[in-house]
Amino acid sequence: MTTVLVIGGYGAVGRHTATALTRLLPDATVLTAGRRPERAAPVAGTVALRLDTADPDAMDAAPPDVDTVVMCASHENARIARACLERGIHYLDVSASHPVLAAIEPLDPTARRTGATAVLSVGLMPGVSNLLARHLTDRHPGADLRISALLGSGDRHGPAALEWTLDGLGSLRGSWTADFPAPYGRRTVHRFPFSDQYTLPSTTGAATAATGLCLDSRPVTHLLRAAGRPAVARFLRRPDVRRLLLAALDAAHVGGDGFAVTVQTEDTTVAFTGRDQSRATGLATALAVTRLPLLNPGVFHLDQVVEPIGFLGELATHGSFTLHPLPSAS
Ligand SMILES: NC(=O)c1ccc[n+]([C@@H]2O[C@H](COP(=O)([O-])OP(=O)(O)OC[C@H]3O[C@@H](n4cnc5c(N)ncnc54)[C@H](OP(=O)(O)O)[C@@H]3O)[C@@H](O)[C@H]2O)c1
Repeated sequence: MTTVLVIGGYGAVGRHTATALTRLLPDATVLTAGRRPERAAPVAGTVALRLDTADPDAMDAAPPDVDTVVMCASHENARIARACLERGIHYLDVSASHPVLAAIEPLDPTARRTGATAVLSVGLMPGVSNLLARHLTDRHPGADLRISALLGSGDRHGPAALEWTLDGLGSLRGSWTADFPAPYGRRTVHRFPFSDQYTLPSTTGAATAATGLCLDSRPVTHLLRAAGRPAVARFLRRPDVRRLLLAALDAAHVGGDGFAVTVQTEDTTVAFTGRDQSRATGLATALAVTRLPLLNPGVFHLDQVVEPIGFLGELATHGSFTLHPLPSAS
């Protein structure tokens, strides 16, 4: 019997992860943890507990039978990862922040010594994007990858994800045109610091990789571009402005809840689409947990340990998502 602890397990991504785990692993015990579980709506089929990743002894206080930790919070990830891997506890992380993932990668020898597995780049982007990229680079080694996310401006994004997006504004310059499946069509995508662009050249045969973002609403995408200008981005990061902006973003729902991720090389585009990006991220993460018994000890990115088309096909079936075009598994 496995016991999975989802840290941030009642947040936007975490509650979908935890719910999907209760369905995919019906014999597992699923625990959801965070600093203030009493303030959150309970996640059916899970047990909530209090855990603050800022506490250096957080993992000492966790129940002793936990064998897998899924990190859906974005504070002290590397310290929690180390504490898990030193104890032989498997660790998965949905973070899209390259510095966070780069701080966990060096724990590979620790994981090998204790027999634990860490899987990074789990979720939608990174995650699904890594698998689409690997599908293409398996066929076109040395490809230059353009990875584009279209997010619904009316979708529910958790506070941590919105904070991450604000942090990324203005950090990278450049834009390109990406073709998304209907109903979105051709869109201008603005470069954004998703972690997969940094990791894919070393984990796949890609020559280069660039990641970008647009929103389903064209006017809001224009605002995103304006907000990326260094002076505006600096202004938006001021704590008082940031508080107001986060509240406004939480309240404003000007578009739909659809998402699309495309990965393109010079002459091929593959895509994954659906509704509710937090649900897609959570479902992909729970599906990655089910693969753990097949994996060797060590620290890996999802694209290094999972066969892309089998995994994406299963994810599409579970979540009513769509893989475009439907590539053959050969
Ligand atoms: N890979 C992907 O495709 C993808 C997609 C979306 C989001 N993400 C990432 O997923 C993460 C979560 O995003 P979200 O939208 O789910 O955010 P969210 O709704 O704000 O959820 C964050 C959760 O973490 C908990 N938390 C915060 N600080 C904590 C701490 N110090 N100790 C323990 N728990 C803590 C929060 O509960 P309390 O406040 O009660 O502690 C909450 O349950 C972010 O890092 C985001 O960038 C990745």
